[in-house]
Amino acid sequence: MKALVINQFGGPEQLRIQETSIPGRGRGEVLVRVHAAGINPVDFKIRNGSLKFIAGKSFPRILGGDIAGVVEQADEKSEFRTGDKVFAMLSIKGGGYAEFVSVKERQLCRIPEGLTMAEAAATPLAALTAYQALKKGGDIKPGDRVLVNGASGGVGHFAVQIAKAQGAYVTGVCSTRNTEFVRDLGADQVIDYITDDFTRQKTTYNKVFDAVAKSSFIKCRKIMDKEGNYITTLPNKGLFLFQSLNFTRDKKAGFIMVKPSGGDLQIIADYFEEGKLKVNVQKEFSLEEGAQAHKMIETERVRGKIVLSLIR
Ligand SMILES: NC(=O)c1ccc[n+]([C@@H]2O[C@H](COP(=O)([O-])OP(=O)(O)OC[C@H]3O[C@@H](n4cnc5c(N)ncnc54)[C@H](OP(=O)(O)O)[C@@H]3O)[C@@H](O)[C@H]2O)c1
Repeated sequence: MKALVINQFGGPEQLRIQETSIPGRGRGEVLVRVHAAGINPVDFKIRNGSLKFIAGKSFPRILGGDIAGVVEQADEKSEFRTGDKVFAMLSIKGGGYAEFVSVKERQLCRIPEGLTMAEAAATPLAALTAYQALKKGGDIKPGDRVLVNGASGGVGHFAVQIAKAQGAYVTGVCSTRNTEFVRDLGADQVIDYITDDFTRQKTTYNKVFDAVAKSSFIKCRKIMDKEGNYITTLPNKGLFLFQSLNFTRDKKAGFIMVKPSGGDLQIIADYFEEGKLKVNVQKEFSLEEGAQAHKMIETERVRGKIVLSLIR
């Protein structure tokens, strides 16, 4: 099969098309013919070696943590059948930038009606991050105030909509060029971080989700309710230090480490079917254009998501 492979850590030019064998199907796994693979910032961090202590150092390596495609082969006892349209977030091992991938059945979900393969591939990792992060510190209650920093990005644009779907009053933070986009996602209030510092407003929040990890717990403490939660996507030493200095422990800080889950993905699929969620695919690339796609995700300027489309 054709795959986009790296043979060493480095820049986007390390991504090369290579012929490799179709992966074997392990116990409880389903072989999927990949139609589209989502691109996430974690992919370039694995590619350049900055995550080698978590993601491993073996080569050749096929990147890609998000796929959408069609079941090619499954166990007789599997709940999935050949021909089913499915999507999934894969484990940190990746393998999505290829014509076939073997996926644990518990990570898979059927693609909701009306979603294209590109849209489905753009969804799992980012939407699961948003969904699992917003659960931290307890479920959102109707009327809760939730602020999403980085509301125009992959994770953030799902977080705005999921918080809305759960009944929250949502404030999205983004730059000037994305304010209309974030308003269209359903945000009740939009703060332009180019002109306003969202940590200096009078309103307080039950949850502050720093989807792009560009702020900090110490800055956001002032805009958190007494029992409020700050959740970030990237932990840093400061987070743990300020957490330990937070003697009263009324305001909490935590970080999300997203986990693949077919069950959580089904909840996200239901939001799509109920018309409560949409995904913005800013650009589709071919497998051969993988290096260009990586250059784009590294800019940190993507609106929504980008994907590799293997079959159009
Ligand atoms: N821990 C986990 O499990 C986990 C899971 C998923 C992602 N992550 C991490 O979370 C981060 C975000 O992921 P993502 O997929 O959402 O990234 P992304 O799609 O690449 O984010 C791009 C967006 O970030 C916005 N942005 C850039 N600088 C900003 C700033 N200073 N303030 C507010 N918004 C800003 C940009 O909007 P503007 O152009 O308007 O600034 C753009 O729309 C990445 O570092 C990723 O590695 C962690």
